[in-house]
Amino acid sequence: MNTPRKIEHQQTDRGYVPVYATGVVEQPWASYSHSEHAVWDTLFQRQRELLRGRACREFLDGVERFGLGDGGIPKFAELNTVLAAATGWQVVAVEGLLPDEVFFDHLANRRFPVSWWIRKPEQLDYLSEPDLFHDLFGHVPLLLNPVFADYMQAYGRGGMKAFKIGPEALMNLTRLYWYTVEFGLIDTAEGMRIYGAGIVSSKGESVYSLDSPSPNRLGFDIERVMNTRYRIDTYQQTYFVIDSFQQLFDATGPDFTPLYARLRQLPAHAAGDVLDGDRVFNRGDRAGWATDADS
Ligand code: PHE
Ligand code: CO
Repeated sequence: MNTPRKIEHQQTDRGYVPVYATGVVEQPWASYSHSEHAVWDTLFQRQRELLRGRACREFLDGVERFGLGDGGIPKFAELNTVLAAATGWQVVAVEGLLPDEVFFDHLANRRFPVSWWIRKPEQLDYLSEPDLFHDLFGHVPLLLNPVFADYMQAYGRGGMKAFKIGPEALMNLTRLYWYTVEFGLIDTAEGMRIYGAGIVSSKGESVYSLDSPSPNRLGFDIERVMNTRYRIDTYQQTYFVIDSFQQLFDATGPDFTPLYARLRQLPAHAAGDVLDGDRVFNRGDRAGWATDADS
């Protein structure tokens, strides 16, 4: 089998330019090297250790049910057997970032795209685009949870709709994804826990998001979240906290069309703002915050 391409961003004289791929490929499992399997094992063991008592139960249960720590890079086909029986989701291998509409179409059909390639040993702590470890370890365990699984599909459908409405609507919806699927926290009977994929796949942010006094931790509110900018280059200045996956699913049930129209009239909040109506779990002390503009 031919090994698929690895699509990465490019650094040009206009700065950082993301590059998109569109197709689904076959996971070239037989061509992973010993060192690539070792990168998975190292990252996996590090995160499993760190996430005990930090990630939510649904995530940790998913990791165990998939046997993600059995040694080496998992085979997508084996994960798909477990997924199909549990929630009907499938993982598909891709070469890199997908254009929005392609990504939404996958989610709307209960397919989660996972980059087939894994980061290099010298990129264990940070890389600027999603690789197999982020996509698989970060996102896939929660797809075994029926409510979260339904939320992700609904998001895909909502994405297609926002895409047709226009770029502002798409931006509002992207912020929702960012502050929930990627960087969400959940308030449980056992305490505050992580469920966001961007956090659970990052050693530094797994600790920072829960333990640091620096960021805000604010109660989830759909309109607030969709109107809040975010940072892609630093740890988050604000995390939004849900009470349950059901709360998230219910909040996103209504038609967003009037919400998009309303948000168009309002200025966006900065990533680090705390507002009067916010339910404040922690008011960040802002230590170490970047002061330039966020996106
Ligand atoms: N209810 C949203 C809409 O009408 C769709 C959606 C569902 C968006 C779930 C995000 C998450 O557009
Ligand atoms: Co992600």
